[in-house]
Amino acid sequence: MRVVICDSAEAAISRVADHISRHIQSQPKTVLGLATGGTMERLYAVLREMHETGLSFAGVKAFNLDEYVGISSEHPQSYAHYMKQHLFDHIDINQDYCFIPSGTEHPFEASRDYENLLSEHGPIQLQLLGLGHNGHIGFNEPGSSLASRTREKALSQTTLEKNKRYFSKDEKMPLSAITMGIQSITDSKEIVLMALGAEKAQAVKSMVEGPLSAFCPASVLQMHPRVTVVLDAAAADELTLKDHYIFSERLQKRREAAVSASTS
Ligand code: PGA
Repeated sequence: MRVVICDSAEAAISRVADHISRHIQSQPKTVLGLATGGTMERLYAVLREMHETGLSFAGVKAFNLDEYVGISSEHPQSYAHYMKQHLFDHIDINQDYCFIPSGTEHPFEASRDYENLLSEHGPIQLQLLGLGHNGHIGFNEPGSSLASRTREKALSQTTLEKNKRYFSKDEKMPLSAITMGIQSITDSKEIVLMALGAEKAQAVKSMVEGPLSAFCPASVLQMHPRVTVVLDAAAADELTLKDHYIFSERLQKRREAAVSASTS
């Protein structure tokens, strides 16, 4: 696991945006795994700017992690709507190849169909992840099987509390979601997870330095061979080995600079 600690949230966002941009330039027909949430809104704003200055998504296919059960893709709080609003409607991606689980189909069929799409168009080459306060990735809440595939999951009390702000008072917030499973996520060739702010520090600590456990689903990333965790200073604050990660990253950057100097 490569842990990158940036001075500010802006620096972390720009680090992740650069990573995605370099990936697309080297593999224009890549398959991306995309995430939603407040953190990603800021990243997508940067990707939109990158598109305006020349980054093309024309050959890219995309899979989103999850969707609420019981709401249609036109619903303003659906993740299908979120993706159009924050990214897809502003870039040159072919939306016929932007996949999001269906919130209106029967959950069992929606999950099975999504796994079939992953088999047909995957594997995901670069999966982007956020991190829940409770250590969830996608909507794989604490207690999720580390070997799970796409299925319906009940949302935890923490998630319901946190996300209810997006729904109006007279609207019922969905109680469950279709989410890619933990195994479906870790089948990706490479993973970049971004977490920002002090409110994520405890979950970051459990993910990076805690035991591998379904209690913190993100801890499964310790088993993946190619993961980069990008943090701002506040999100990194609880890490015991913080100084070591900073030192390792400095060395890594020096190595990368030496390689690029020798090849240019
Ligand atoms: P957030 O959500 O970016 O809104 O904090 C992250 C997540 O729950 O994965």
